[in-house]
Amino acid sequence: MRVALLILLGLIIGVIGTVNVMNALSQRNPMPKAVMHTMGYHMGELGHALKAKQCDVAKIQQHLLRLQSTATDIVPVFGMADKPFAAAADNLQNKLQLALQAAPADCPALAAVIMPINQACKSCHEKYR
Ligand code: HEC
Repeated sequence: MRVALLILLGLIIGVIGTVNVMNALSQRNPMPKAVMHTMGYHMGELGHALKAKQCDVAKIQQHLLRLQSTATDIVPVFGMADKPFAAAADNLQNKLQLALQAAPADCPALAAVIMPINQACKSCHEKYR
């Protein structure tokens, strides 16, 4: 009886240890948040440009390109095989592609392309964040 209890105790401690290690590992992977913060930075810069009414074509293009390339990291970095999650990331890619094709050259044009991008961020966050 005593031996069985000790074995059980050992198993429980083992499970708790594994869970702790898994938590520590996931906290140590900074990539998912890094990808999001990078996109947050570029969206923030575009937002500031709008607010300040200083919509420089070259800068807009640069931030949109950085958003587009960073967004390609979402699925591999989050490691989520979930189909709707990948679809949400795809949706963001599409909106970024359209924005780049529209090549916004002033603030009203930037405002028009940024809205669907914002919506693409939001709709994934509502479901997965
Ligand atoms: C396909 C899904 C998806 C899309 C699209 C998406 N995000 Fe996220 N985002 C997430 C998830 C999931 C989290 C929570 C990450 C975590 O807590 O580890 C998150 C968190 C964040 C955070 C907070 C990070 C932190 O430290 O808690 C910011 C900022 C962010 N996203 C910005 C953006 C911006 C800007 C866009 C659009 C350009 C965007 N995201 C598009 C899924 C997405």
